Amino acid sequence: MQKENTYILAIESSCDDTSAAVFCNDKKLSNIIASQKVHEAYGGVVPELASRAHQQNIVPVVNQAIKEAGIEKYQLNAIAYTQGPGLLGSLLVGASFAKSLALALDIPLIEVNHMQAHILAHFIDDEAQKKPEFPFLGITISGGHTQIVQVDDYFTMKVIGETLDDAIGEAFDKCGKMLQLPYPAGPHIDRLAKEGNPQRFQFSEPKVDGLNFSFSGLKTAVLYFLRRETKANPNFIKENITDICASLQYTVVTILMNKINKAIKKTDINRVAIGGGVSANSGIRNALINAQEKGKLEAFIPKFEYCTDNAGMIAIVGYYKYIQQRHLDNSRENLQLASARSKF
Ligand code: KG4
Ligand code: ZN
Repeated sequence: MQKENTYILAIESSCDDTSAAVFCNDKKLSNIIASQKVHEAYGGVVPELASRAHQQNIVPVVNQAIKEAGIEKYQLNAIAYTQGPGLLGSLLVGASFAKSLALALDIPLIEVNHMQAHILAHFIDDEAQKKPEFPFLGITISGGHTQIVQVDDYFTMKVIGETLDDAIGEAFDKCGKMLQLPYPAGPHIDRLAKEGNPQRFQFSEPKVDGLNFSFSGLKTAVLYFLRRETKANPNFIKENITDICASLQYTVVTILMNKINKAIKKTDINRVAIGGGVSANSGIRNALINAQEKGKLEAFIPKFEYCTDNAGMIAIVGYYKYIQQRHLDNSRENLQLASARSKF
């Protein structure tokens, strides 16, 4: 007998992207993302403005997702939404909308952990990406989080390392602000780094035990370095921007790769699956591919669309919870992902 299709609508609104996706089983039918430009002028996400923009975007984004999927609302089997972690006001917009629609359609509501979604995004059935076998190391790197997660099964995960202060994307964005680059600076640093000399300037690596990270020291080191250099030459940044970006990116990539290698040694797991906006970084991708070519690890790099915050990753978790009937008892999860330190 042919298995029936499961249609899931997913909503993600944890930070500054309003997103809705429709999945048929583990395949994407649509994945709409409305990024909020309003924060650019402030050099960072302004929570109050984010919630207001979600309020404006949520109805058109969900409508477009359903339309693009080519289905009718009554065909949906369940609605999944990001329950946390994230900005409270932003989360509330997605949660209230998802709850109301699930109630109106009389279908199950599935709550999804945002961090778990970044990891399970690898299981979206898409020819542009391969699915890791269990166990693997999930590396979630974005503007709000930096974690190394041991993933034993879809819903059995353990955080084995995380940042003690700033997230890796925050390090890119804050250093970029000092370099007068637009927000978010990560992609600009990546682009400029390609033209620069990564060995030109040295920034010391933080000394943090075990598998944890720290990026606030790097930010301060860059600040003092720029203060010193611009005092001697006010045009220093302009004249050396590519070398500064290349050196900074080289340092960040080295910090990350050292911890990944340490995690591989400690766990004896060499499948490494990255996720989160910073996994778009070409320095990180190249370092992983190089390590793979040397036989040190097997790298899993998701399609860019599934790296940054998007509802597709919420839909895939919703799908697995639905088929395993986990949505009937959300408290069954043994999730340690939303630790006190992760802001998202
Ligand atoms: O996952 P994401 O869209 O949102 C959250 O923060 O949860 O990640 C956004 C972060 C920003 O810090 C941005 O600067 C960074 O991802 N980013 C990059 C690149 N593309 C995005 N950082 C370095 N290189 C990139 N190519
Ligand atoms: Zn995220």
